[in-house]
Amino acid sequence: MAKRPKKNDSPPAAARRPRMGILTGGGDCPGLNAVIRAAVKTALNTGWEVCGIREGFAGLLKPETAVRPLGPEDVKGILNMGGTILGTTNRGNPFAFPVRQGKEWVEKDRSDEALANFKKLGLDALIVIGGDGTLGIARRFFQKGLPVIGVPKTIDNDISATVITFGFDTAVSTATDAIDKLHSTAESHQRVMVVEVMGRYAGWIALHSGVAGGADVILIPEIPFRLKHVVAKIQARYAAGRRFAIVVAAEGAAAQGEALRTRGKKVGQEVRLGGIGEYVAVEIERRTGYEARSLVLGHLQRGGHPTTFDRLLATRFGSAAVRLAREGFFGQMVALDPPHIKSVPLEDALDRMNRVPLTSDIVRAARDMGISFGDA
Ligand code: F6P
Repeated sequence: MAKRPKKNDSPPAAARRPRMGILTGGGDCPGLNAVIRAAVKTALNTGWEVCGIREGFAGLLKPETAVRPLGPEDVKGILNMGGTILGTTNRGNPFAFPVRQGKEWVEKDRSDEALANFKKLGLDALIVIGGDGTLGIARRFFQKGLPVIGVPKTIDNDISATVITFGFDTAVSTATDAIDKLHSTAESHQRVMVVEVMGRYAGWIALHSGVAGGADVILIPEIPFRLKHVVAKIQARYAAGRRFAIVVAAEGAAAQGEALRTRGKKVGQEVRLGGIGEYVAVEIERRTGYEARSLVLGHLQRGGHPTTFDRLLATRFGSAAVRLAREGFFGQMVALDPPHIKSVPLEDALDRMNRVPLTSDIVRAARDMGISFGDA
């Protein structure tokens, strides 16, 4: 495993068994439990104790109720389970924790409190499983002296330091399965079906499921679209006798010159995206006269059993993270660099987002086959 060592100042105490904390933060994702299982088994087999911290970093602010030891029994039978046995939240950033002030919610920095609790718990390492938001918090804690190891998770696959994240393959399978099912109803009713899938800033799920599912139009955040091109593609298809169409739109796709479609923002949370599918469906029906319907796959994509690929990757990540902690290489994130699992400094890992390159062979294959991205 390639390493850029950044050793922790306080190595595990020799007088007792070293103790590792583990938490999951941000949106859930198929494969989280497989990481937890692999990390716990690897840690216990190599003489570490493990404490599970519930609800991400927020758990470090309520250690009495949110932290408990994890043993072999706790990870029995969870390899193929969706979700996370540790629970998660996307509202628990101790650096900007939402607190009530009169009638208002404001953000307060409670990171020192979290750090003090980490020390009180006698923890020697913290495995943080999360996406760019959670890993960004981990990076800030590392800068404050907390010995962290990151494990990247996101169904969006938008972390560039790893070739792929677990959860993505399962999400793509779910979306492809949905597109397959929509084909028959679209054809029976001679309708345009618009499927909105997840993908805030990167269109990987839309691209992969759209190509694998045989979509006619794929709309992704990386390629601003124009409705006139989307409409022209659908009209050409109907004119050629194929009187139905499938459009796959990432939630973060937007028409040229238009803002993202959002559903509001709460203090301490990211803005919620959504609505692009319905917008496109309404416009298609209005401009063509063809009946159109939209469907938001939403959180379905985050649920269910992880695929074999995701289970394996998650297991490799969990085990590798513990190896890094054991060797004292903190401030690192595990990453897939086939055929290896390597480690990259958290400092650099989140600098660049993994977005769909417009020259990618999948984009080119799609264009060659006549799939429209709405840009021409
Ligand atoms: O970051 C992963 C993701 O699935 C995004 O694609 C989506 O915008 C977000 O999570 C939704 O999160 P939630 O509704 O759980 O806050």
